[in-house]
Amino acid sequence: MSADYQVHGDVAVITLNNPPVNGLGLATRSAAVDGVHRAEADHAVRAIVITGAGKAFSGGADIREFNSPKALTEPTLHSLIRVVENASKPVVAAIHSVAMGGGLELALGCHYRVALPGAQIALPEVKLGLLPGAGGTQRLPRLLGLDTTLDMVVSGAPVLSDKLAGTALFDEMFAAGADLVGAAVGFARKVADVRPLPKVRDRKVEHPDPAAFLQSSRATVKAMAGPFPAPLACVEAVAASVTMEDFEEGLKFERERFLHLMQTPESKALRHAFMAERAAGKVPDVPSETPVRSIASAAVVGAGTMGGGIAMNFANAGIPVTILETQQEALDKGLATIRKNYENTVRKGKLAPEKLEQRLGLIRGTLSYAEIAAADIVIEAVFEDMGVKEAVFRELDRVMKPGAILASNTSTLDLDRIAGFTGRPQDVIGLHFFSPANVMKLLEIVRGRRTGKDVLATALALSKKIRKTGVVAGVCDGFIGNRMLEQYLRQAYFLLDEGALPQQVDHAIERFGFAMGPFRMSDLAGNDIGWYIRKRRAIESPAIAYSKTADLLCEQGRFGQKTGAGWYDYQAGERKARPSPVVDDMIVQHSADIGLARREISDQEIVERLVFALVNEGAKILEEGIALRASDIDMVYLTGYGFPLHRGGPMFYADTVGLPKVLAAMEQYARGRHGEAWKPAPLLARLAAEGKGFNG
Ligand SMILES: NC(=O)c1ccc[n+]([C@@H]2O[C@H](COP(=O)([O-])OP(=O)(O)OC[C@H]3O[C@@H](n4cnc5c(N)ncnc54)[C@H](O)[C@@H]3O)[C@@H](O)[C@H]2O)c1
Repeated sequence: MSADYQVHGDVAVITLNNPPVNGLGLATRSAAVDGVHRAEADHAVRAIVITGAGKAFSGGADIREFNSPKALTEPTLHSLIRVVENASKPVVAAIHSVAMGGGLELALGCHYRVALPGAQIALPEVKLGLLPGAGGTQRLPRLLGLDTTLDMVVSGAPVLSDKLAGTALFDEMFAAGADLVGAAVGFARKVADVRPLPKVRDRKVEHPDPAAFLQSSRATVKAMAGPFPAPLACVEAVAASVTMEDFEEGLKFERERFLHLMQTPESKALRHAFMAERAAGKVPDVPSETPVRSIASAAVVGAGTMGGGIAMNFANAGIPVTILETQQEALDKGLATIRKNYENTVRKGKLAPEKLEQRLGLIRGTLSYAEIAAADIVIEAVFEDMGVKEAVFRELDRVMKPGAILASNTSTLDLDRIAGFTGRPQDVIGLHFFSPANVMKLLEIVRGRRTGKDVLATALALSKKIRKTGVVAGVCDGFIGNRMLEQYLRQAYFLLDEGALPQQVDHAIERFGFAMGPFRMSDLAGNDIGWYIRKRRAIESPAIAYSKTADLLCEQGRFGQKTGAGWYDYQAGERKARPSPVVDDMIVQHSADIGLARREISDQEIVERLVFALVNEGAKILEEGIALRASDIDMVYLTGYGFPLHRGGPMFYADTVGLPKVLAAMEQYARGRHGEAWKPAPLLARLAAEGKGFNG
């Protein structure tokens, strides 16, 4: 049973009961319909209250029914709302905590709505590339008017119930802390005999000049919607509430737009990302009941680019953190950067001024290991050099209290070797943050061969606490993200040799939707990082071919924005990338030096070579078990590398294109220069042959 039925004297109370948020799954819908019928049949019952158990009135559709036939099995949400609206006795929605999506639409179908303050009221479907498809776009404007409704439907953002007190949405707002069900039953008794039963559908939308308002809304929404069709479709559906005479006609229009959006690649990508985020927190052999260690204090070793940002994450989550450096000067510099970052956030209005000192008060600096010994977790962020890491981990092993988690932020080094420098490899884990570490959502959680399950579970819980998207990766050079990025960058450099210029490559991939092309990104991150890695590769894996262009660039000291020159020129104090004639000449000269006739390269070739290089390496990573699932790879790219959200991540995108087509393009590139880079991953070839995709 996923709704409870009780009779309080002459009022029946139906309590939706489907934890955690009373999602309107099939069983809940059926039980609610049965409840209404039962109450109608009971002569002693004069009115009906619908409310929700526990943490919500209802959070809307049950995400466990996504993509399942259950969502379309009777009684559907539409049918439930119809039963409620057509009930012969008044139905009162008693709302607390959360009424979102289908939950709010159900409430809109009721004859009356009463609520507690502080409840989150939202129609968030747009966030999944959809619109509210169960009458929300038709009923809400009849209660809240066009302006408020459009804001809510187009943004998907929640509004607190108390902000909506006094509107027609709520017939009564009870005092905070009131007994909701008791008060709702009292309200139901008061209205039990009122006839005809008020229906939202019978109201008119009030607006002085709907046509002009809708016209300007269309223009604004179109400008901000980017590649997503849903926001504009939301406007059209809400518009139907005024432009269509007949309510049923409006409902039909809403339904059609909803079904259309369901089929768009953009909505599919958003729904994929939504599910992928949830899946990423799950590791098959680490059940959810695995005990976690308490993290009440933290330490960071190294106050450089990464260390400072990592420390800020802990302070932001209210966890005291101590940063250790070897030199006072480096420590002071690191702490000053942190202060400056917080000051910038305050200046932008994103942090209350009084919070600044509070956050800074949680961050301490030290030069002494003794002062970090009692921390529950320590994250090492020193130079990317095995010798330096070894010295740090041997020291950590010596001083840290038993049970402390010893984490490394290494980008490329072998975590198992690092763990081997300690006598407690079960406590060692990789926590790979992305720059700027206080901003970027992604946290690759690197599971070493001997990392304890409780340590992994703790890291996953910690990632939520510090509001990161944690994705588990196995140990390999570059883990998931950087290992794939290397193949992407190799192609970007080969394209320069063959005929492209940095701005052409960047434009093409930015038009595809990437936040930043490879050359602008390298200039931001620092071209010297890749140079250093290639030098190591030249010794460790001399067979891997690279274009020499990036090395030539570094030999000129063009490390990127930090040196005012990289693939592009930068004017002092500016981030704007200006094409550099010096670099362009260097690229053209290099093609001549290696005897290559430069050719015209299409944007399509650029996008395919960059994206399919990611896909092929992603397939290898999946096959080797470095990533647990294709959607984890997508999460890495969506949250850490600016892959376009509306394309769902590289593996999802490949599925959308169709793996046989991806394979055919790769085979074509394999006939070109450096064709060896296009040897298909066996998994990719197999799935393509079987007519399957990475995501099933
Ligand atoms: N910069 C990035 O974009 C990025 C992204 C992810 C991961 N990483 C990784 O994070 C780590 C740090 O990188 P970074 O960019 O912050 O480097 P950085 O050079 O900016 O900072 C390193 C800091 O460590 C300090 N340090 C060096 N040896 C130390 C020791 N023995 N004890 C205490 N402090 C010491 C240095 O004084 C310096 O302040 C590296 O492993 C790197 O691969 C970097």
